[in-house]
Amino acid sequence: MEIESLKQAALAELNAAQDLKALEHAKVDYLGSHGKFTALLKSLGNLPKEERPAAGKLINVAKVELEAALASRREELELKAAMPKQATDFTLPGRRRTVGKLHPLTQVTEDIVRAFRKIGFVVADGPEVEDEWHCFDALNTPADHPARDTQDTFYIEGVKGSQELAPPKKQLLRTHTSSVQIRVMEKQPPPIRIIAPGRVYRRDNADATHNPTFQQIEGLYVDKGVTVGDLKGTVEFVFKELLGNEVKVRFRPHYFSYTEPSFEIDFSSPLVKKMGKDWLEIAGCGMVHPQVFENVGYDPEVWTGWAFGFGIERIAMIRYEINDIRLFYENNVRFLQQF
Ligand code: DAH
Repeated sequence: MEIESLKQAALAELNAAQDLKALEHAKVDYLGSHGKFTALLKSLGNLPKEERPAAGKLINVAKVELEAALASRREELELKAAMPKQATDFTLPGRRRTVGKLHPLTQVTEDIVRAFRKIGFVVADGPEVEDEWHCFDALNTPADHPARDTQDTFYIEGVKGSQELAPPKKQLLRTHTSSVQIRVMEKQPPPIRIIAPGRVYRRDNADATHNPTFQQIEGLYVDKGVTVGDLKGTVEFVFKELLGNEVKVRFRPHYFSYTEPSFEIDFSSPLVKKMGKDWLEIAGCGMVHPQVFENVGYDPEVWTGWAFGFGIERIAMIRYEINDIRLFYENNVRFLQQF
């Protein structure tokens, strides 16, 4: 019978289709509005009236069968199209995704900050492009101090077309984080308990212990009746937190224009001994100079305080036994991966 043979031909073609495009072709060919099977349906009208119901039924059953075949072949071909074009070698080693880490200097900074947070300090911030007032004048640093020399400090020339700012507004890259002390005290009344980590810049040639940019952390504590004992106790606590309980700290008299008295802090630990030294100089500190309080509008008769500043690279070098500061800035992955 015509219906049966047409159905078989259609099924054969649908199943023979090797891709979705060929399948679409076959569909149009038989089931489309001008398709062969559709034509069969249309020709029903030519049959004698009594034969029509039976023939119509047959055609409809065949059509349902064809549509089911079409759907199932489509599913197969869609699956095939979604398969990788090339064979997969499941024996190949996997591709490991490397997990990023924090830079060792960031890790050390975060540890220092954590240690100070435990005793109530908060983090303060200031600009790296500073002016002479905040970096030097307000810190009681005299105009002829060598640190202010262009040999030591990067000064910033006026932006093109604008007038160069006159001292003490002259712009420079801060040489230390001590400028943040002034920024904080200008903004808020005592008591103050802050630390300020950040980048600083000096016109040094890079060598194993110097880099033109490095990081410092500043501390400032202002309240009534603050003593050198508070300073020493705080410094000792933080270094023990950072580098272990065997750490010893000693203070040596020194000079800074913004503190009086001033000290240098040396510290000793098994690691320092391993480096063949008894003591390593690590930080500067002292009791805030009354003139500095005057400069920010605090009454030096009422307020007392201490400040310190130290280099973060120094601490990281001791902690990780690194002998060249430049390694921190070369971004060599093989170096950085170790921390
Ligand atoms: N600013 C000093 C430096 O760059 C370090 C320093 C010394 C900071 C004494 C202080 C301080 O706050 O009181 O080496």
